[in-house]
Amino acid sequence: MTITLMIDGQEVTVEQGKTLLDVARENGINIPTICFHEATTANALCRICVGEVEGMRVLQPACIVEAAKDMKVQTKSEKVLRARKTILEMLASTMDLSEAADIQSMMQEYGADVTRFPDAERRETPVKDDNPMYIRDYSKCLLCWRCVQVCADDAQYTYAINFEGRGYETQIGTFFDKSIPETTCVLCGQCVGVCPTGALKPKREFLLEQGMSPQEISVLNTGRKKRKNVKRSNV
Ligand code: SF4
Ligand code: FES
Repeated sequence: MTITLMIDGQEVTVEQGKTLLDVARENGINIPTICFHEATTANALCRICVGEVEGMRVLQPACIVEAAKDMKVQTKSEKVLRARKTILEMLASTMDLSEAADIQSMMQEYGADVTRFPDAERRETPVKDDNPMYIRDYSKCLLCWRCVQVCADDAQYTYAINFEGRGYETQIGTFFDKSIPETTCVLCGQCVGVCPTGALKPKREFLLEQGMSPQEISVLNTGRKKRKNVKRSNV
């Protein structure tokens, strides 16, 4: 069954059941996204994708709101642009976006002022380096939840990580703050693959950035494998 609605003044006819984001993309309208990822369940956490829907009091997240018959949607109204700009400014004030290239482009596009909230408290946590495959730098985490989802029902069914803490203290963590090797993590790397900000990064890339040479990293890995074999042979 199809429905007809208006998006940015354009009449479109689409299959029922599509989100506003689907409808926009199918019709060549660009809506920015941050927490949304094709491979994970959308949870509408970042709100960068909002649109103005006639008759609705608040802006609607396009990644989860279903298109409805006769809806009138604006994706570039003044209210929408102001909301996106503010979201980007709040992100820039509280976390490290230095490796989030897509978000940096959005900041330019929306004219975000990185100095707008000078008194904001920044998330600054030490890099967690507790396993051979990847590092976790939660100073760069915007809590998009993609990593938690791929680790859980969206892909891996491993459930090694989840949200922890409340309010401003919320962050991604392991149960009882255990190190990664002590959790159910199988080092599949899917969380690293979906992270949009560089908060999760392959260990090799991290070590190269720290100035280590490929040879030094190989020696490090060989030593680690040998230690593992010795441990196994003692069992
Ligand atoms: S670590 Fe990366 S993928 Fe996980 S919530 Fe933070 S930004 Fe998102
Ligand atoms: S992309 Fe829709 S809320 Fe984040």
